[in-house]
Amino acid sequence: MATDLIAEKRIAAEAAVAMVKDAQVVGLGTGSTAEFAVKAIAERVKQGLQIKGIPTSDNTAQMARQLGIPLIDINSIDTIDITIDGADEFTEQLHLIKGGGGALLKEKIVASKTTQQIIIADSSKHVAFLGKFKLPVEVIPFASRYVMAQLAKLGGDGVVRQVNGQPFITDEGNVIIDADFKKISDPVALSDALNGIVGVVEHGLFTGLAQQVIMGHEGGVKIFR
Ligand code: A5P
Repeated sequence: MATDLIAEKRIAAEAAVAMVKDAQVVGLGTGSTAEFAVKAIAERVKQGLQIKGIPTSDNTAQMARQLGIPLIDINSIDTIDITIDGADEFTEQLHLIKGGGGALLKEKIVASKTTQQIIIADSSKHVAFLGKFKLPVEVIPFASRYVMAQLAKLGGDGVVRQVNGQPFITDEGNVIIDADFKKISDPVALSDALNGIVGVVEHGLFTGLAQQVIMGHEGGVKIFR
């Protein structure tokens, strides 16, 4: 990846982490952009910031533990004050595609419990319409062929995500279908339709969940809200 995009991720992450306050419960995102945020939070914890983290994936949980960020069980609290997470695509209406890293299920649960959901991104993630990035749909393995047929009826040809010639398995033991909808002009309608397919556990369309996107841009940040 171009070094300027990596710098944009870091700058966006640091701007978001500056918003975290003492005593907050903080959702910790997953992916290469969120990783910058987790590291920046760990630095602030070392300097005395008192927070409790809720990781959105096993990978992030492991990283947070290694970096000394205290974690709590998501089911021990009602709301998460602030979550900092990445996205694969975002629009100015704050609709998102997430799940490129396979963690969309916990990411959406955490986002749904969060008061202030902050998305951090480099400028390549900013799109006029969602859909160039294939939409990740998490599916019970038993249902994968059925769900692919239903996705095709909705206009999204899908394939089961593979890693080293084997299906990619999520933290919860499911598979992911990456569906090519090309241009998603009505994300809310598509989200509703996907929610109605039996066998779909969750999908990577996030609508109405983000309060703000912080995008790295020309050495600073651009805020969308
Ligand atoms: C993880 O499942 C994803 O939702 C990530 O947040 C998303 O894929 C963005 O990842 P990067 O920051 O690595 O691009």
